[in-house]
This record gives sequence, C-alpha cells and structure tokens, in this order.
Amino acid sequence: MNYQLPMLLVLSVLLVACSDSNQSRSPVVPEFSEPGLVEGRAVWMNVCRNCHLMGIAGAPAITDHAAWVPRLSKGEEALYASALEGIRKDNAWTMPPRGGNPALSDAQIRSAVDFMLAAVDELNSD
Ligand code: HEC
Repeated sequence: MNYQLPMLLVLSVLLVACSDSNQSRSPVVPEFSEPGLVEGRAVWMNVCRNCHLMGIAGAPAITDHAAWVPRLSKGEEALYASALEGIRKDNAWTMPPRGGNPALSDAQIRSAVDFMLAAVDELNSD
C-alpha cells in the first residue's frame, strides 16, 4: 500500500488550516506611498515586527493605540532616541538598541519609527 498520497493530503490540509488561523490573528500591516515610509516599512517588517506586531515581551503593538498614547506624548525625538539607544529596565533591555540589529543606520531606524507611528495612527479605530 502506498501511503504517500494520503500523507500529502493530510499535510496540505494542515498547512492551509495553520496559515488561515495565523492570518485571522495577525492584523494587516498598513502600506504608505511616501518613499521614507516605504523604506521604514521594509526595515520594520524585517526587524521590529517580531515584537511590535503582536506586542511580544511588553512591546507596544501597532494595533494597541492606548499603549502608544503616553509614548506619543514624549515627542518624536524621544521615540527615535529610544529606538536607537534602546530601553533598559532592571539591568535588562526591554527594547533592544536598534531593535537588536546594529547594522541598521540611524536613518533606517528613524524611518522604521516614522512608519510605526504612521501605522499606529492608521490602525487607530478610536
Ligand atoms: C525584542 C523585541 C523588540 C524588537 C525587535 C523591537 N522592539 Fe521596540 N520595544 C520593545 C519593547 C519591549 C518596548 C517597550 C519598552 C519599555 O517601555 O520598557 C519597545 C518600545 C519601543 C518604542 C517606544 C519607546 C518609548 O520611548 O516609549 C519605539 C519607538 C520602538 N520600540 C521602536 C522599535 C523599532 C523602530 C524597532 C525595529 C528597528 C523595534 N522597536 C524593535 C521590544 C522590541
């Protein structure tokens, strides 16, 4: 008896089921036409999304407008500084400097912050 075909069918059903449930839980990440935000989105999707899409490890998620309100009130320069230098609490990084990727330039980090703030605004349903 050849088990290959039934196994393939089971695997493909599982794959479809898994990708469906992921999609329904992950918000759609907004896109913008401004070149700076296009670059920022690319950086964000590679690095920042890991924590800031779903709000991993205490990171403010892009969909969580309430979590951003007190941060936004610090002003953009302070948020750039947090992203560049990181945030350290109780001798441990909460937000890692440059999202943990030291190869990213200051301009790339700033554009990722600009993108994230635009996305937070876009996804704000209040
Ligand atoms: C390993 C997870 C992780 C990654 C990756 C990450 N962040 Fe964060 N980020 C955090 C956490 C956690 C906080 C909240 C830190 C706190 O307030 O203690 C945070 C907070 C922030 C804030 C708010 C800072 C403030 O002053 O309130 C900004 C802006 C930010 N991150 C930008 C970025 C950018 C841009 C990237 C990608 C280059 C990135 N983060 C990647 C975990 C991450």
